[in-house]
Amino acid sequence: MNRTLVIIKPDAVQRAFAGRIITRIEEKGLKIVAMKMVQLDRKTAERLYEVHKGKSFYESLIDYITSGPIVAMVVEGRDAINVVRKLMGKTNGAEAEPGTIRGDFSTGVEKNLVHGSDSEESFNREFPVLFNKEEIISYRRIDEEWI
Ligand code: RTP
Ligand code: MG
Repeated sequence: MNRTLVIIKPDAVQRAFAGRIITRIEEKGLKIVAMKMVQLDRKTAERLYEVHKGKSFYESLIDYITSGPIVAMVVEGRDAINVVRKLMGKTNGAEAEPGTIRGDFSTGVEKNLVHGSDSEESFNREFPVLFNKEEIISYRRIDEEWI
């Protein structure tokens, strides 16, 4: 079991894809253990994306991620980090495989609908930017023994 931080980005909220993205996570058998809608201020966005500071797309990325509300989630399950990355597809929606979230709903490299932590180390760094430990809710899903 591991946990990953998932963000439904501003373009996905604006395009009313939040429900579909949540459904894909749920139907895969992953468990949402924390969730909230927030609009990031620049300081928080800069913390979240500090690994990209100095890259050519950094300023644009901060503008984009602060441009509207996002839905942030902590998602738990077997190999959750890798499973969510597979559900998302490649960064560039034009290259992402059909059947993935980005492959089905995006052709952009920046406006690509969703974020998922790329490693446990990234999750441990990203999680406290958006959540307190107390916001994680431990519970059993009724179908857990079948997943
Ligand atoms: P994410 O962190 O959001 O899950 O996406 P990722 O791992 O697939 O991509 P990453 O390389 O970490 O980039 C973070 C986000 O920055 C935007 N981006 N724009 N214009 C560009 O060349 C470019 N490259 C990346 C995307 O929104 C990407 O998800
Ligand atoms: Mg990344």
